[in-house]
Amino acid sequence: MKKTILVTGSNGLLGQKTVYGLLVLPDVHCVSTGRGPNRMKRKDGYEYEEFDITDYSRMEELFEKHRPDAVIHTAALTNVDACENRREEAYALNVEAVKSLASVCGKNNTHLVHLSTDFVFDGSEGPYIESDQVNPISYYAQTKSEAEIVVKESRASFSIIRTIIIYGVVDDNSRSNVVLWTINSLREKKIIRVINDQHRSPTLAEDLAQACISAALRREKGLFHVSGRELMCIEDIVRITADYFDLDDKFIQPISSEELHQPAKRPPMTGFLIQKAEQELGFHPRPFLEGLAIVKKQLLLVG
Ligand SMILES: NC(=O)c1ccc[n+]([C@@H]2O[C@H](COP(=O)([O-])OP(=O)(O)OC[C@H]3O[C@@H](n4cnc5c(N)ncnc54)[C@H](OP(=O)(O)O)[C@@H]3O)[C@@H](O)[C@H]2O)c1
Repeated sequence: MKKTILVTGSNGLLGQKTVYGLLVLPDVHCVSTGRGPNRMKRKDGYEYEEFDITDYSRMEELFEKHRPDAVIHTAALTNVDACENRREEAYALNVEAVKSLASVCGKNNTHLVHLSTDFVFDGSEGPYIESDQVNPISYYAQTKSEAEIVVKESRASFSIIRTIIIYGVVDDNSRSNVVLWTINSLREKKIIRVINDQHRSPTLAEDLAQACISAALRREKGLFHVSGRELMCIEDIVRITADYFDLDDKFIQPISSEELHQPAKRPPMTGFLIQKAEQELGFHPRPFLEGLAIVKKQLLLVG
């Protein structure tokens, strides 16, 4: 019998890639859910339901109707500065909704794959393993860290997947990320101010989606670090992207975190040790340059 997997936030970057990843699996029935109409290009081969994750009665209704074996929960308020300024909304989406979802999953024996972030760490000594102590330094990070506790303390069978700056191409261009921002800005010859004192491991959305799907199908329990292998300064991520796409790097202006003065604090150095995900989820991230090649191909198809 086919397994039913429900994806939340399926108009987002990871949501879209997860749905596309599920569509090629013959033994899976995919129910994709998002806020408002479906913005994915491909509309066949799966069901789409409008679902605001803060609507709890709708959540129960969807579980009743589809009886999912697993949920991959990608929906969240992901803009770190917006979370700092819109705290009530951030808490409702990133904590309260997770509490309800975990409770409904627990009642229905549905495995919950929950997405979290490298920002739960303060960034003083990356790269991190799963057992390292968290210390969130922004409101976004606090909500994501609290959500992890909510999931762990629920009755649900769960995988918590922490990840780091996700990049990739979304169908409707409604979202940007470090790679797309670099390409689009430099093509338009816009000056970009790029952080030169924060280190991250960029993660290809397709690779992350595979790890989420694997966790859902295997009902693999626990906490997993899932990211690219290379730990780089954000300025290097941008320069490598510019070079790969043959763009003029004279528009890149390095800037320190202190000078940029963003509303939310960011951890200086994250990065993950990913052996657990490699062994238990069969996760094998592609090198950054291979990820860029995939982005290039997809942009050519879109363009
Ligand atoms: N992006 C990163 O670099 C990064 C890094 C570490 C961890 N993460 C985590 O990874 C997960 C996926 O991130 P992502 O980059 O794919 O995020 P994303 O592109 O911002 O997608 C999030 C999705 O959530 C949806 N959403 C927001 N509020 C909703 C609501 N009330 N009901 C239903 N859907 C709602 C958004 O809908 P709309 O499209 O309508 O706005 C969007 O489609 C998140 O949990 C995030 O915290 C992301």
